[in-house]
Amino acid sequence: MTNVTSPVMSKHFSLSELQTWDRFTRANFINSLSGFKSLSLIGTVNSKGISNLAVFSNIVHLGADPALIGFINRPLSAAPHTIRNIQETGIYTVNLVTESMYKQAHQTSAKYPDGVSEFEMTGLTQAYRDGCIAPFVAESPVQYVLKFEQVMPIELNGTFLVIGSLQEAYVPAEIQDEDGFLDLAKAGILSSLGTNGYYKTEKIATLPYAKVN
Ligand SMILES: Cc1cc2nc3c(=O)[nH]c(=O)nc-3n(C[C@H](O)[C@H](O)[C@H](O)COP(=O)(O)O)c2cc1C
Repeated sequence: MTNVTSPVMSKHFSLSELQTWDRFTRANFINSLSGFKSLSLIGTVNSKGISNLAVFSNIVHLGADPALIGFINRPLSAAPHTIRNIQETGIYTVNLVTESMYKQAHQTSAKYPDGVSEFEMTGLTQAYRDGCIAPFVAESPVQYVLKFEQVMPIELNGTFLVIGSLQEAYVPAEIQDEDGFLDLAKAGILSSLGTNGYYKTEKIATLPYAKVN
């Protein structure tokens, strides 16, 4: 066994060192370590018909057939409204974020009281389509609708994996390649890092399916 020699001068951090840091510094470090994420606004409505909008970045593709997409919801004390509305109404929209709207998207993470719509608080425009009761963000060029399927509590830290199945998608025709690939960068979709870093996207390549040899 040889020691790994890194090509860059890396600084080493052990868990015991991270645990000596204040909680904000530690959270910022750990939240960025796992890399860039999908920057999405989830639109829901409660049982009284009041809309809710919140930014989520821990969104993950779970499978294409059936088409399942999950997201991690923080403990209920920190993020109570989206998950409750999803469980009450069974339907929600996901709206990808561009440069013209990322500041308003960020502002939706403020802890507005129950029954206050983040659309009104941020000035993002709520829109409705095709009989879907959950609101879309009109400014977002890439939107999709999920039907609630399952919530899996993660006992380790009180978070939840919320799983939905894809029902509808609204995408600009010009960003779709012939093979179905969606070049989200062409629509100006941003990426996020941690809970306060926002990045532009730029495609460098699309590669063929990798085969042995
Ligand atoms: C860039 C960014 C990404 C976020 N990602 C998540 C996430 O993946 N899961 C989560 O529960 N909260 C996330 N948050 C925090 C929520 O937006 C925040 O808790 C919000 O108030 C939840 O609203 P709700 O109670 O209406 O669901 C994120 C915040 C920011 C700024």
